Amino acid sequence: MVKIDLNNLPQHIAIIMDGNGRWAKQHTIGRIRGHKKGAQAVKTTVRACREIGVKYLTLFAFSIENWKRPEEEVQALMSLLEEYLTKETKQLKKQGIKLTTIGELDRLNPAVKEQLLQAKADTSKNVEMILNLALSYGGRDEIIHAVKKIVRDNKKNKVDINEINNDMFKRYLYTCGMPDPDLLIRTSGEYRISNFLLWQIAYTELYFTNVLWPDFTKDHLFKAIASYQKRERRFGLTSEQLKRQNHSKSLLNIKNKRH
Ligand code: IPE
Ligand code: IPE
Ligand code: MG
Repeated sequence: MVKIDLNNLPQHIAIIMDGNGRWAKQHTIGRIRGHKKGAQAVKTTVRACREIGVKYLTLFAFSIENWKRPEEEVQALMSLLEEYLTKETKQLKKQGIKLTTIGELDRLNPAVKEQLLQAKADTSKNVEMILNLALSYGGRDEIIHAVKKIVRDNKKNKVDINEINNDMFKRYLYTCGMPDPDLLIRTSGEYRISNFLLWQIAYTELYFTNVLWPDFTKDHLFKAIASYQKRERRFGLTSEQLKRQNHSKSLLNIKNKRH
C-alpha cells in the first residue's frame, strides 16, 4: 500500500468517475454492467475516505450532458442510484457521513428525487464526512443559476452590485458552505474537466490516471493523495514567500502551545 501523510490530507477530494463503458467493453459485457461495477468502486472509495479522515468527497455521478445518452442507459443509471440509496443510507448513517447533492435535482424522476431527499434528511445530523453527489450537474449551468439568483436578489434590493465579489459569488453556487476541492481525480485516461466544478477548481490540484473507474481501489486513491502531498500549492506566490509563511505559522503554533 502506498504511504500517505495523515496530517496533510486534502480536506476536499472531488472525483470524475469515468470509464465504466470502456471497462465493460474490455470485459465484453454490456455498459450497464460496467456501471454496476462502478457503483462498487463508489462504496470502496467512500469507505476509504471516511477511514482516513477526508472531510468532503464530491463524486461526479451524472452530468447534465449525460441525459443525452440512450434512454435505456439513463434508466439503468437512475435505478443504480436508487439501489445505492436503498442499500447504503444505513451504512452512511452508521459511518457518520452526511449526504448532500449538487445539480438540477428537479430533472430526476420524482421517486428518485424523493428517495434522495429522504437519504439527505436521514443523514443530515452526521458530521464526520460529507458525501456530495453531483447529479444532473453541469458547471456552466451552476454558474448561470447563481447569476440568475443574484440578479433576482438585486431586483429585490437584497444585493448591491458593489457587493459582488468572489466570496459572495461562491455563496450562490450549489456548493455554498463547502471548501473548494484540494484534489480532483479523473479516471480513465481522459485529460479534461467535462463541465465539472468550473468555478471551484481554480486552485485545485489535478490528478489524472489511466485506471478505469470500476478498477479504482483504495491503493489508487492513496497514490493520488501521495501525489497531491508532494506538490507545492503556491496560489500565485513565490516558493520563498510560501516558506516564510509556513515558518511564521509554525513559530505561532509553538508560541500558542507554550501558552
Ligand atoms: C462514467 O463512465 C459514468 C458516467 C458518465 C455516468 P462512462 O459511462 O462515461 O464510461 P466510458 O467513458 O464510456 O468508458
Ligand atoms: C463525465 O464523464 C461525467 C461523469 C463522470 C458523471 P463523461 O464520460 O460524461 O465525460 P466525457 O463525455 O468523456 O467528456
Ligand atoms: Mg465517459
